[in-house]
Amino acid sequence: MMRVRKPVAAALCALALRGVLQAAESDGPEASAVPAPHRSLRWINPGESGGLAADGSYANDYGQVGVRNATGAVEATGAPFFAPLGTNGRACVSCHQPQDGMSLSLDSIRQQWRVTQGKDPIFAAVDGANCPSLPPRQSASHSLLLERGLFRVFLPWPPRNAQGQPIRPQFTLELVSDPAGCNADPQYGLGAAEPRVSVYRRPRAAANTAYATAPGLHLMSDARAPSLAAQAADAAATQLERREPLTAEQLAGIVGFESQVYVAQRIDRRAGSLVEPDGPALLGPLALERGARQAPQAGPREVLALDGKWNALPRSGDAVRDARNQARESIARGRELFVARRIPPPGKGAAIACASCHDSPLTGMDRQGWSDGGSAGLAAPAQGTVLPVFKLHCDARLPAPYGGQVRYTQDPGRALITGRCRDIDAFVTPSLRGLAARAPYLVTGAARTLREVVDFYDRHYGIGYSESEKEDLANFLAAL
Ligand code: HEC
Ligand code: HEC
Repeated sequence: MMRVRKPVAAALCALALRGVLQAAESDGPEASAVPAPHRSLRWINPGESGGLAADGSYANDYGQVGVRNATGAVEATGAPFFAPLGTNGRACVSCHQPQDGMSLSLDSIRQQWRVTQGKDPIFAAVDGANCPSLPPRQSASHSLLLERGLFRVFLPWPPRNAQGQPIRPQFTLELVSDPAGCNADPQYGLGAAEPRVSVYRRPRAAANTAYATAPGLHLMSDARAPSLAAQAADAAATQLERREPLTAEQLAGIVGFESQVYVAQRIDRRAGSLVEPDGPALLGPLALERGARQAPQAGPREVLALDGKWNALPRSGDAVRDARNQARESIARGRELFVARRIPPPGKGAAIACASCHDSPLTGMDRQGWSDGGSAGLAAPAQGTVLPVFKLHCDARLPAPYGGQVRYTQDPGRALITGRCRDIDAFVTPSLRGLAARAPYLVTGAARTLREVVDFYDRHYGIGYSESEKEDLANFLAAL
């Protein structure tokens, strides 16, 4: 049996299966009374029999994430998203687990390593090892997955156009250092018969997809998948090591499942229920499900707005309630910092805010497509990173500022697909919903907690947040 969430969700699930869950988020007082969360094993194995409740809640370090299936309870048995469709025993669910907000947390990865002694198919050599040529089942061979939650993403170099023809990049790509060894590997690397460039990335959430597929928004950190179907076909061939194309029925089953599953944090360990009737309409997964039924791109004009609901809450003298209200006010202050706190401009540009790049109203994705948030680039070929370091040298004939530019990076991002210098280090911002369930963060997995994400931005841009501002911002991110 697929392990179902206890004890909150078991009750919810029973309700959900009877179709009682309708318009209102169902976690009322009994859910917010749940004691401090702890994580326990709710791992779903490929091909496991059982079902996924219409509405489930899963504990994480920050509270509980809600996972809603808009079409009702999902029969996972035999459903293609949950089935091992390839040759390595993996299913899509292997790396997109409900308990992790349909992504995969480092906690889960380490737990599976311990429980299965490294035999879980997520550790398959193809991309679950630093390089397929390394000895299997030794933690050193899987260090990027076990320490950072990173899977190897391998792409043809030079890039190919839609017709599969090599395109001429605007820059040369040189390997500066390669601790993982795969880019220099004779069989898998840049010098192989079929040259491949390997970068290492976090899984993104296979949920809330109505938003990522809305006009102007994109799937995958380098926008290389034009549609959910194209993404699934590619994932089947690479990550599941499936030899033949998926059938039309399998594709439809996968895309159908992904298109109806919504993920957002629902309970905060300090602020309590995030989905009370008089609370901010943005929070919780139902808000995303409702928003997707309207126009995902239109929606409210403001980014991740809390409607002023938690700005100044009364104090009652009741210690528990007052602490909860303080936590809610911190979340509201964090949201104001996210949209209004000026970030000193990189270079000569105008000052920006977090919400300049994270500007999609319900998800905080980037409506300009992709941008350089600064997580992959390096000022110099610094030593000490566990990731490969590449030196990119742009053609001198390009117009300023690109002509002759030299860039050092751990992952060139979108430029590995387009070959253009302006796309170096540019990434598609992922949805910021359900973040609490899927640590670590940033495409490089370098931030272990949401607080470390804030610290990263503070350092990178020299913002100068106070200690309490950092906390507010991290609390806001954790509530999404
Ligand atoms: C071995 C782990 C693994 C498996 C198995 C896997 N994925 Fe993923 N998935 C990833 C990683 C890593 C990324 C991010 C890659 C990138 O950004 O370049 C990703 C990204 C995605 C995204 C993009 C989400 C977004 O908003 O950008 C979708 C959708 C997705 N996967 C669906 C699937 C489907 C469908 C399957 C099964 C056919 C599958 N995945 C199997 C690891 C996995
Ligand atoms: C110049 C554009 C830009 C600015 C400004 C920016 N971001 Fe980002 N952000 C990105 C991009 C691009 C990514 C995806 C690449 C990555 O994860 O490293 C990202 C990733 C993130 C993630 C990680 C999501 C995940 O799933 O791992 C969080 C959280 C985040 N940003 C929060 C913020 C906050 C808070 C601020 C303000 C302090 C901010 N961002 C400012 C572009 C930006």
